[in-house]
Amino acid sequence: MRRLGIFLFCAASLAGQAGRPNYDDDVKPVFARYCLACHSAGEMRSGLNLETYNGVLKGGSSGDAVIPGRPASSTLYKAVAHEGDGVPRMPLGGAKIPDSSVALIRDWIQSGLLENATSTPKGNIGPSLDFKPGSLNKPSGPAAMPGALPPVTLPEPEKANPITALAASPWAPLLAVAGHERIYLYNLEKRAPAGELPFPEGIPYTLRFSRDGATLLAAGGKGVQSGKVVLYDVKTGNRLAALGQEPDVVLAADVSADGKLVALGGPGKLVKVFSVGSGKQLYQLTKHTDWITALEFSPDGTRLATGDRSGGIFLWDSATGGPAGNFADHKDSITALSWRGDGNFLASSSEDGQIILWNVMDGFPVATIAKAHQPKPPAGTFGTPPGGVLSLQFASDGRLVSVGRDSVIRVWGMDGKQKAAAAPAPALLTRVAASADNKLIVAGDFTGKLQFWDGKQLVAVRLSEAKPATAASLGTVKPASGRD
Ligand code: HEC
Repeated sequence: MRRLGIFLFCAASLAGQAGRPNYDDDVKPVFARYCLACHSAGEMRSGLNLETYNGVLKGGSSGDAVIPGRPASSTLYKAVAHEGDGVPRMPLGGAKIPDSSVALIRDWIQSGLLENATSTPKGNIGPSLDFKPGSLNKPSGPAAMPGALPPVTLPEPEKANPITALAASPWAPLLAVAGHERIYLYNLEKRAPAGELPFPEGIPYTLRFSRDGATLLAAGGKGVQSGKVVLYDVKTGNRLAALGQEPDVVLAADVSADGKLVALGGPGKLVKVFSVGSGKQLYQLTKHTDWITALEFSPDGTRLATGDRSGGIFLWDSATGGPAGNFADHKDSITALSWRGDGNFLASSSEDGQIILWNVMDGFPVATIAKAHQPKPPAGTFGTPPGGVLSLQFASDGRLVSVGRDSVIRVWGMDGKQKAAAAPAPALLTRVAASADNKLIVAGDFTGKLQFWDGKQLVAVRLSEAKPATAASLGTVKPASGRD
């Protein structure tokens, strides 16, 4: 496994270990009950002795069993949680131990492998998983909402397109939805359309509000013809800038928190970073070996995360383009990257079915959600249908929302555990966004409809006048995201 090249450790200070599990009082009883028959001084299967604290630290014949602060990378945790490839499932030949014991072992590793109630944690246990929403990038005045926008004169397409991009303003009750050569705006408070913006460049594959909500970025284009990034003033709808002269669609783009940088990428395998002021390209990033499918600036704008169609994720210093890290656990196309509001964690989703929560400081996952959106095989069929995760976003309250090939909106905590899930939607959900007040999760679907979920009910909304695509015309269940 390749790991982060540059480590930016931060000293974790801890005020007392009360409430944190320790080996003597909490973990050893679990081992005694389920493991010592095979992992004790007398019966040391695979060279692993769990009977003593030092035995656990020593590990087994395949090396370290536990890494302080990193349950998701610890063999022992993977063995009891039945997660990960190539790790034996423990207890061998027995039933999985209770979830509460798995959680205890996870918390024990996460909080630094305490031996007893008075010991200090080992290793770098990293930033807190808890999140308190802050006011970073909050606009000083009222959050931008569109005024009366001129109508878009382009005719609606005959058939509705799958929703290829969706974004919610981080501060206002405003949603932006990709259409064909246009962007629909929607007022989430009034539950009413709020105007349209023309995007004659083609189909938007990415929509992003700036971190203060004042600017809307749309990126896309026409397949194998042209690609562009356009910035709009949210209040007036005016085009502020158009960047990139790409020979193919732009699949991923973002604008930095200070509004000065725009990064874009697509089938060209290059990430290009432009100055919004001069319109000139500042630098390009050449490390990706496949199409750029996702990218996002950190909330403070200092770093840029980029992901590709082969599962590679890189981190960069946004001012210079210098490499700042490499997160390599995904095995298929990265579909989304999202930073938590404090910039300490990055979430990635992939067609490989996983959601991974990365500690940005050291490049290790704090949680891996395998098979996050695995559909059930249709009745009477065998085999596993594709279970890709198609879109994900950190909500401003620190929860993670995602959609995937099971057509279900799901909400996750930082421990990688599911906190809520909507009823399955009638069509494949392609994109997801959480409203600024976190009361609503909105997903776009394959037939051009939105699904609004308030935690209780799914409500379908259609913004386009176009006829929904029929099941027969859908063909394969792939989002029309320009990927082949
Ligand atoms: C019935 C016997 C048995 C029980 C009970 C058992 N294990 Fe194991 N364990 C084994 C064997 C055998 C291996 C080697 C398996 C392999 O390499 O495929 C192993 C391997 C492991 C390894 C990998 C060690 C290494 O370095 O190769 C870990 C970690 C582990 N067990 C943890 C546990 C834990 C934790 C429990 C209790 C929850 C447990 N085991 C219960 C028999 C057992």
